[in-house]
Amino acid sequence: MGLVSTKEMFKKAYEGGYAIGAFNVNNMEIIQAIVEAANELKSPVILQVSSGARKYANPTYLTKLVEAAVLESDIPIALHLDHGDTFELCKQCIDSGFTSVMIDGSHLAYEDNIALTRKVVEYAHAHGVTVEGELGQLAGVEDDINVSDEDAHYTNPDQVEDFVKRTGVDSLAIAIGTSHGAFKFKPGQDPKLRFDILEEIERRLPEFPIVLHGASSVSQEYVKIINDNGGKLADAIGIPEDMLRQAAKSAVCKINIDSDLRLAMTAGIREVFNAKPGLFDPRGYLTQGRKYIKELVSHKIKTVLGSEGKA
Ligand code: G3H
Ligand code: 13P
Ligand code: ZN
Repeated sequence: MGLVSTKEMFKKAYEGGYAIGAFNVNNMEIIQAIVEAANELKSPVILQVSSGARKYANPTYLTKLVEAAVLESDIPIALHLDHGDTFELCKQCIDSGFTSVMIDGSHLAYEDNIALTRKVVEYAHAHGVTVEGELGQLAGVEDDINVSDEDAHYTNPDQVEDFVKRTGVDSLAIAIGTSHGAFKFKPGQDPKLRFDILEEIERRLPEFPIVLHGASSVSQEYVKIINDNGGKLADAIGIPEDMLRQAAKSAVCKINIDSDLRLAMTAGIREVFNAKPGLFDPRGYLTQGRKYIKELVSHKIKTVLGSEGKA
């Protein structure tokens, strides 16, 4: 089928009340696991690459592995730059075959975010590539902030129409209470997302695809496997899956998942190391890590994203 941009994927997801999973990829096993799961369930999927992934694996290796995944499957796959922070990085990715890029200017002053995002959009659109922008800043559980400070981090619905109109972005990442990493809420804290902000954004931007970053749910099953097999993970709490399902039914068309993949792979590897201390063939433990990621992605597609059969 070849790599596709996110344009058509998001249009169908918006109309169909489901979301596309955007999974971070760093090596061959992760790519295989995600694409095998999506292919078996006939689900479109987004493979996303961060700057850290490019440094770890080398950009050429990653794009060639994704090309192999495209040849081995029959579903729409988008290759997306996650959290691009400069025009040059976005340009490099566009020039090397990415079909979608994120330019994350969310930490910049509003007008600077617009100027940078607009510049990326102009280059990307001239090359048939879609662009995700970001407004608002994701919370972090370590931030000791009071309620009014917290409000300042959420996306301000008053800005979204102006931002989208002036930048020309194809999708918008927003902050409604999700955060990156495995420690999103403190033990005893009630996980909450600001669905009121999402609804207001949806009202201001009709039929426009919204993106949720920091959307790992942190399965306690994997946390337990890790800790039962020599790990020492502190209480890790993620976004409840029913909240993500609710978001997927709304204007949210892309849900970003990375930490859940890391936990699944680590659980598989720790389990094997614990059971077979003499094992030193990497295929032995990577196979189990890959298996757990595949199971996790299948679960997300079926019960959280709702994208099964939409390829
Ligand atoms: O949002 C960030 C992603 O989880 C990627 O993380 O920069 O460590 O590759 P990374
Ligand atoms: P998680 O850390 O919740 O998996 O978020 C990943 C993400 O947003 C990648 O951009
Ligand atoms: Zn992110």
